[in-house]
Amino acid sequence: MTTQELCQKAVDMIKMAYAPYSHFRVGAAVECDDGAVYTGCNIENAAFTPTNCAERTAIFKAVSEGHRRFRRIAVAAETEDFTAPCGVCRQVMTEFSPDMDVLMVNRSGAVRTVPLRELLPSGFDGASLSNTTSE
Ligand code: THU
Repeated sequence: MTTQELCQKAVDMIKMAYAPYSHFRVGAAVECDDGAVYTGCNIENAAFTPTNCAERTAIFKAVSEGHRRFRRIAVAAETEDFTAPCGVCRQVMTEFSPDMDVLMVNRSGAVRTVPLRELLPSGFDGASLSNTTSE
């Protein structure tokens, strides 16, 4: 899939967002290492904390279908500024593919590509868990 096609999928998902509280609608499309693409939107909740970002919706859909390696994820919002993934989403991306790219799409359709390692340097991962000296 071309970069433009992946970004368009993220833009198309904005209309699926369930964001009655923030009114901040986000769409995402993650590309797996085999070329499969999964999409997502943000899904809010009256209790606030159960809210799921568009990026995690897309990634969790992919993982639940057997995909664990990702090349890149496109994130689209209706802002002129590029919307960067929140820290929780960066951590979830790092779990599966620390070397993936994040493509941010603004409302004009401009794209900014940043390596995930730049957004979350020294991320906590499975290897970090085995570094403990406690029992
Ligand atoms: N949100 C996302 O879905 N992705 C981002 O990258 C930033 C924030 C959502 C969460 C919440 O529903 C709304 O945007 C406002 O934070």
